Amino acid sequence: MMIYLDNAATTWPKPEQTVASIADCIRNNGANPGRGGHKMSLAAGRLIYNARELLAKLFNVDNPSRIIFTGNATESLNLVLKGILKPGNHVITSSMEHNAVARPLHFLKGQGVEVSEIECSPAGIMDPGDVEKAIRKNTTAIVVLHASNVNGVIMPVERLGEIAANHGIKFILDAAQTAGLLDIDVERLHLDALAFTGHKGLYGPQGTGGLFIREGLEVIPLLQGGTGSKSESLEQPPDLPDRFESGTPNTPGIAGLAEGVRVVTEKGLGEIRKHENMLLRRFLDGLEQLKQIQIYGPGNPMLQVPVVSINVKDQDSSEIAFILDKVFNIACRSGLHCSPQAHKTIGTLNQGAVRFSFSMYNTIEDVDKTLHALEGIIAEMP
Ligand SMILES: Cc1ncc(COP(=O)(O)O)c(C=O)c1O
Repeated sequence: MMIYLDNAATTWPKPEQTVASIADCIRNNGANPGRGGHKMSLAAGRLIYNARELLAKLFNVDNPSRIIFTGNATESLNLVLKGILKPGNHVITSSMEHNAVARPLHFLKGQGVEVSEIECSPAGIMDPGDVEKAIRKNTTAIVVLHASNVNGVIMPVERLGEIAANHGIKFILDAAQTAGLLDIDVERLHLDALAFTGHKGLYGPQGTGGLFIREGLEVIPLLQGGTGSKSESLEQPPDLPDRFESGTPNTPGIAGLAEGVRVVTEKGLGEIRKHENMLLRRFLDGLEQLKQIQIYGPGNPMLQVPVVSINVKDQDSSEIAFILDKVFNIACRSGLHCSPQAHKTIGTLNQGAVRFSFSMYNTIEDVDKTLHALEGIIAEMP
């Protein structure tokens, strides 16, 4: 049986309810939502609305229509960044970002948007004071990830939200690694936009994600097209969610996501975090006993999500991941994790790192077997 520790990429396994509801949707509810007046179309529409309501409740969004569905967090981030930033605007970000933020910002830089990247410490920790110092007259937005997909470090989002609110700046959060794990309240965090993905901590299928857009935030849609509403007009409808949901939606995927959210909500974020923190503590303690291992990040479950990057001496990270997979049947991820800036920050741009990430389905046995495997690899090394 494989030990799957690549949950920061996508969680696996998915809950049985997720799998069953995707099959049920295709089998019994396969019409296009919002496109017809017949019973099956209306039922598909209800299914999607129900998913919106569950997500709205999770993120404390009062109007579920302010949550739009996308294919993933990358699409959500592209939509909001390209939809609000104009040449001459200034945006503040961190040196720990995933390419889902870093690449759209690099593209926008080419269009005349100014970008300040706040350098985080070698553990990935951001000083909110540096953000405050970087604010200019033309600063439009702060965009950061909630927690790093490289070393799990949690960003000081409460403070960043206050800074943004005090300066009248938009606050955009990339919650790809935290939705379904950390408490995200769009009001408490003063969020103007929240990008999330459905296939990680929300235990939905790949190809699902979404974006909360606060009322009053003017976002230009990336796409125009059929929405099933106001079809007589060539203008894209002004109302959410239709304004940003052109084309046939991924109804089966959204059905699966809704069940994932239901499972997470019923279990409780606190319970999930407690379990994953226990595994994380055990893993970190075990790693510390292994002399040849370098651990990156805060090394403290209170300051990070259950994502741990390490290196074994100066061994190539992909070599270690290959042995873990081939010899020990342990799935992890090596290399740069789509985050070269973050690896530069923690000092692993050349070597990459071996990343282990837990889900609510991992066990103490998974942790112990992985530590044992690493011990074996070290013992065999020259
Ligand atoms: C921090 C972070 N942001 C964005 C993304 C992109 O998510 P998706 O692949 O679902 O678009 C990821 C995925 O690994 C991530 O870890």
